[in-house]
Amino acid sequence: MYRTHNCGELRLEHAGSEVKMAGWVQKTREFGGMVFVDLRDRYGITQLVFNNDTDPELCEQAKKLGREFVIQASGKLSERSNKNKNIPTGEVEVLVDEMRVLNAADTPPFTIENETDGGEELRMKYRYLDLRRPVVQKNIMLRHRIAQEVRRYLDSNNFLEVETPYLIKSTPEGARDFVVPSRMNEGQFYALPQSPQTFKQLLMVAGYDRYFQIVRCFRDEDLRADRQPEFTQIDCEMTFVDQEDILNTFEGMMRHILKFVHNVEVNDFPRMTYAEAMRLYGSDKPDIRFDMQFVELNDVAQGKGFSIFDNAELVVGICAKGAASYTRKQLDGLTEFVKRPQVGAKGMVYVKCNEDGTFKSSVDKFFDADALQAWADKMGAQPGDLLLVLSGETEKVRGQMNDLRLEMGNQLGLRKKDDYKFLWVVDFPLLEWAEEEERWVARHHPFTSPKKEDFHLMDTNPGEIRANAYDMVLNGTELGGGSIRIHDRGLQERVFQLLGMEEEEYVEKFGFLMGAFEYGAPPHGGLAFGFDRMCALLGGADAIRDFIAFPKNNSGRDVMIDAPSLIDQVQYEELHIRAAEKLKS
Ligand code: AMO
Repeated sequence: MYRTHNCGELRLEHAGSEVKMAGWVQKTREFGGMVFVDLRDRYGITQLVFNNDTDPELCEQAKKLGREFVIQASGKLSERSNKNKNIPTGEVEVLVDEMRVLNAADTPPFTIENETDGGEELRMKYRYLDLRRPVVQKNIMLRHRIAQEVRRYLDSNNFLEVETPYLIKSTPEGARDFVVPSRMNEGQFYALPQSPQTFKQLLMVAGYDRYFQIVRCFRDEDLRADRQPEFTQIDCEMTFVDQEDILNTFEGMMRHILKFVHNVEVNDFPRMTYAEAMRLYGSDKPDIRFDMQFVELNDVAQGKGFSIFDNAELVVGICAKGAASYTRKQLDGLTEFVKRPQVGAKGMVYVKCNEDGTFKSSVDKFFDADALQAWADKMGAQPGDLLLVLSGETEKVRGQMNDLRLEMGNQLGLRKKDDYKFLWVVDFPLLEWAEEEERWVARHHPFTSPKKEDFHLMDTNPGEIRANAYDMVLNGTELGGGSIRIHDRGLQERVFQLLGMEEEEYVEKFGFLMGAFEYGAPPHGGLAFGFDRMCALLGGADAIRDFIAFPKNNSGRDVMIDAPSLIDQVQYEELHIRAAEKLKS
């Protein structure tokens, strides 16, 4: 037997027993003729003691142990005289009488500690060492826990876990495909799934009623902190349901996860239409941990001779509670913030509602106290509050104000990581105008059904058609999204046509799905959650990379195994890839 106990489980009540342990040497220190070794595994750290008086030879061996050596040690567990209250095993230590080095180790390129001295690139290159650090292990274990609870909840609600293929034909989710050349079919390629969308719909046609899969998806798109080229979805689909059934089922799933993973009760899942979200927050994924809703000020701010406002389509403000104490420097900082190219505003107007009832604004020349009082009234401001106002073209200014609102939320400490505020955004537009291509594209995906009451807009005003589509938002991040699907061939063809596809094209690409709609396709709908994002949010982090065992870097590379890479000459030949072959030479 390698070990009787792991490094995290021994307590005072075990004192006196003979134990055997195995693990990694975290550190060694010598003190008064003794050698102390911190032995680590994924469960914790236990102190080993080697005594020069009882066994000088063993003690000498212990002195030679380096960081990350893998050892096995046995001895009697004893109460520590110098207790460490910071770790659960801190009241005991093992008085070692036998020790074996199972494998020596080179000095690691960075310290295997929560606060490591290793930079990002180095840690990714030696990811197996990075994965030893307790903070990273905690994330990976959280991911495991959440996956287990997802399975438990969905299984108990009659969902079947069904695997769908990875070598498929393109499924449009708005990104580029990763493709795989086929050796047996010269010049032809598979696409890796951007999602299992069409397959899960076919499973509904096949009568599988309730499906789920914790599944890898592949998208060749620009990477950010919350995006990886391969990522995992909790993908779900249900038959004989309307939107309400789906929202309720997955509220239940999130409640279950929060309860069993964090012991947090979630009560509210408010719903907001897309139009409302844009009007009140300038975002389709509002962070509702704090208020600061937009207030439109056109009627009180225009017509006073301030031409920037007078010429604007929208004048909009937010009220930051208690922030009238902002200094000139802080206000200048905010102006700088909104002027950054990423935000893109030309300037910002502020009004301080002073404690004594007076106002101090950046537009005092144009607006007297009565005029500013009208703003304050409209925004529900009290003495002590700060009003921030932007103006311009509606869509743009809403986006800019969204950035400013989130920045204020950060500055005022209103975005706490352990405060979980869910929101459903519903009634998304069906279509979106793609400027470059000069055509309508599906906002969610082309299998999403339009709302019945908006059918009449298909010929006249397609941009106004609302879809039976919804997103689940958690703390300002899109956690998941889905829709009620089209299950009628005629309607599906109509939507493909709206997207500017010729019959030949949609039959070639999606004939299999439309064919299935003619063999008894039931009404169905579903959604998919970003599993990595879910783990990051519930782990209190922004970057999903920290919750993926072997992630890619920002250029889509795995720097540990050095992929992507060139392949053997014979592989190019077998795969009929001539252009790539030239690259190699
Ligand atoms: P959608 O494209 O909205 O929907 O994706 C669902 C969720 O997956 C997550 N996600 C990502 N996470 C990490 N890296 C990425 N590159 C990435 N892209 C998306 C997001 C997102 O909300 N088939 C539909 C779902 C459906 O209609 O049922 C789909 O894939 O959290």
